[in-house]
Amino acid sequence: MSVIKCYQIQGILAKGGMATIYIAMQESLKRQVALKILDPKLDSTLLEHFLDESRIIASLKHPNIIPVYDVGRVGIHFYHSMEYLEGGDLEARIAEGIDPSTALEIILELADALYLIHSQGIIHGDIKPANIVFRSDDCPVLTDFGISRRTEVSDLQLDNSDNILASPSYASPEMMQRQNFDQKVDIYSLGIMLYEMLVGEKPYKGDTHAEIVANSIQQAIPTLPGALKALQPLLDHMLAKDQDDRIGDARMISRYIKKYLRDHPNLTKAQIEDQTELESSSNGDVVVEYVSNTDKQANITSSKTLLPILIILLSADVALAIWYFII
Ligand SMILES: Nc1ncnc2c1ncn2[C@@H]1O[C@H](COP(=O)(O)OP(=O)(O)O)[C@@H](O)[C@H]1O
Ligand SMILES: [Mg+2]
Repeated sequence: MSVIKCYQIQGILAKGGMATIYIAMQESLKRQVALKILDPKLDSTLLEHFLDESRIIASLKHPNIIPVYDVGRVGIHFYHSMEYLEGGDLEARIAEGIDPSTALEIILELADALYLIHSQGIIHGDIKPANIVFRSDDCPVLTDFGISRRTEVSDLQLDNSDNILASPSYASPEMMQRQNFDQKVDIYSLGIMLYEMLVGEKPYKGDTHAEIVANSIQQAIPTLPGALKALQPLLDHMLAKDQDDRIGDARMISRYIKKYLRDHPNLTKAQIEDQTELESSSNGDVVVEYVSNTDKQANITSSKTLLPILIILLSADVALAIWYFII
């Protein structure tokens, strides 16, 4: 028996710190839905924020953003129902390993969704693999707007309790340091996911929250394997620690990746691994050319070592646009 009468609960999909996600049958329409019910013991402002979260998602219509069907409150229980996504989340797929071209397609679609979100004056604030869930046709869908904010209130700190802050592995330096932030926090998190999917591990590690945060602030942006070198400028402009150096317009990411995929039609994991091996056996003395004959990017990029110094003087968006036209 469900506490929410119109839904018959069939099982638990996930249980987080603040909510439980159930698979349920919506009796009226006889369809399966995902039902998110908040922990009733939460602070009342968080419960109210949940209603905002649901309204924010409902205002966004995009193939890569979760459609919310219904939101409500029954006694102490706040809930919303949404499309049930059958394909599991991105965290599980990363654990299995993802082909670089698939990884880039996923980032491309998410960047497209982020552009819409940001153009509506909304910050997601918690972009991470566990919040990307797949449809049965492998379409990635952005979920969990639990700490999303409208831009006009983004200069408020998120909350004083650590457990509702974004995950430290994906949160930008300004967010973790509780400084003012804007939509660029989402671009940073997407950049971490890009690196993680391409390389198979997170860029900044640590045993504790504090260590991860310190490493992400202090350590240099990691370098991609040789065969993915042409993506380094994109990664650098997504993971820039200073907001002024970071991409602000998510469309830049989509454009860059579309061009990259056009130029690298046969990008597979095996190719990347072969190239990386070749590169390390040469002690890094040789700039490794990309395997494909049609690819001129690695060479051109390496011959333009002075370019980053010039473009660093420009804003991140302009710099990336210039790079985009050069490669
Ligand atoms: N619509 C959905 N369909 C299927 N699984 C979902 C759906 N929404 C969330 N999940 C699963 O539940 C997990 C937690 O959901 P989420 O909304 O992120 O809650 P939390 O606020 O606890 O992080 C997700 O990581 C995903 O695995
Ligand atoms: Mg979540």
